Amino acid sequence: MKILLVDDNPANLLALESILADLGQELVKAYSGRQALRYLLNQDVAVILLDVNMPGMNGFETAELIRRRKRSEHTPIIFVSAIDQTQNHALQGYSLGAVDYLPTPATPEVLRSKVAVFIELFKKTQEVRRQEQALRALNAQLEQRVAERTAELQRSNEELQQFAYVVSHDLQEPLRVVASYVQQLAERYQDKLEAEANELISYALDGAKRMQQLIVDLLAYSRIDTTGQEFAPTDCEGVLQRVLSDLRVAIEESGAEVTHDPLPQVMADNVQLGQVLQNLLGNAIKFRSQEPPRIHVSARQEGQQWVFSVRDNGIGINPRYAERIFGIFERLHPRTEYPGTGIGLAICKKIVERHGGQIWVESEPGKGAAFFFTLPIKGST
Ligand SMILES: Nc1ncnc2c1ncn2[C@@H]1O[C@H](COP(=O)(O)OP(=O)(O)O)[C@@H](O)[C@H]1O
Ligand SMILES: [Mg+2]
Repeated sequence: MKILLVDDNPANLLALESILADLGQELVKAYSGRQALRYLLNQDVAVILLDVNMPGMNGFETAELIRRRKRSEHTPIIFVSAIDQTQNHALQGYSLGAVDYLPTPATPEVLRSKVAVFIELFKKTQEVRRQEQALRALNAQLEQRVAERTAELQRSNEELQQFAYVVSHDLQEPLRVVASYVQQLAERYQDKLEAEANELISYALDGAKRMQQLIVDLLAYSRIDTTGQEFAPTDCEGVLQRVLSDLRVAIEESGAEVTHDPLPQVMADNVQLGQVLQNLLGNAIKFRSQEPPRIHVSARQEGQQWVFSVRDNGIGINPRYAERIFGIFERLHPRTEYPGTGIGLAICKKIVERHGGQIWVESEPGKGAAFFFTLPIKGST
């Protein structure tokens, strides 16, 4: 630790030195305010003992300049002065942010213990500062790591999507060949083969078709991010009407009744928003109970987002599977019971997330299901 002693009188400096020598700290002497200021330009000291009465720049002026500098604005200053108007001086000293004022000749014990206190304080402050710096460094390091991980994840995510795209694209062709030859086999040898052979052929054909559908679904899924349109003001009522007309046959056949509240305008890719509603409504019709489907679509504002819901009175879902059903090809029922590949909700999830929203379901078996998804209001008109 350094202690800066400022006095124009060498004898006084010598006296201070001998009093403070016991503290075992480095004592730096300055014979004028200017010299002190110069020293403080690039040095930190634990405390400054400043003579008030100096020729040229006096102690108060020096203190004022010391205070004005960022580096030394908080460095403790103890004024030491022989002059008599102690009261006055003391007041001026305190107003300059001096921490103390000592009349000379100083009592050695008093001076020593005061300075010792400031040294202690300085040590503590330095320790705190060191810890703060360490924390900052750690924090920066963490942030850096998170950024790296995020970039890494994004990269591998993109690679995975690319992979899914390439694989499904490349699989389509050989599969088309398989399907088409099996089909020809069935047509040409229908009468010439035993019943069992025909059955086996139909299984093969069925499998090939199913695989084709899975690949088409996978392709659609992997293209959501790449073929998505820019978001534009989208009238949700219009989107819903389009979806309802696409689903007309299914609605009529099932005797479904679809109602809705007024729906907002949002910033969205309207084709993809249509896909979301179509999948949710399609499911609500498909997974119906004995009752004819009653489906209600609504949207409510909640903070900075719209919360859409599609409620049905169908078979419901065990909450245990509430998350799982949003995964690719995850289904809770065999194909024979309900047709489908299990991609619909995965597509919904990906689309909603691309729009900055979330999707989830609330349901119980036998009590219908309510699917919710959010869209940010920010940027919508
Ligand atoms: N409205 C619903 N009511 C009951 N179960 C549902 C509903 N929607 C989805 N599910 C369950 O979630 C699974 C996944 O749905 P989805 O991804 O659309 O695939 P798919 O319709 O091809 O089965 C469904 O197989 C079904 O088990
Ligand atoms: Mg579906």
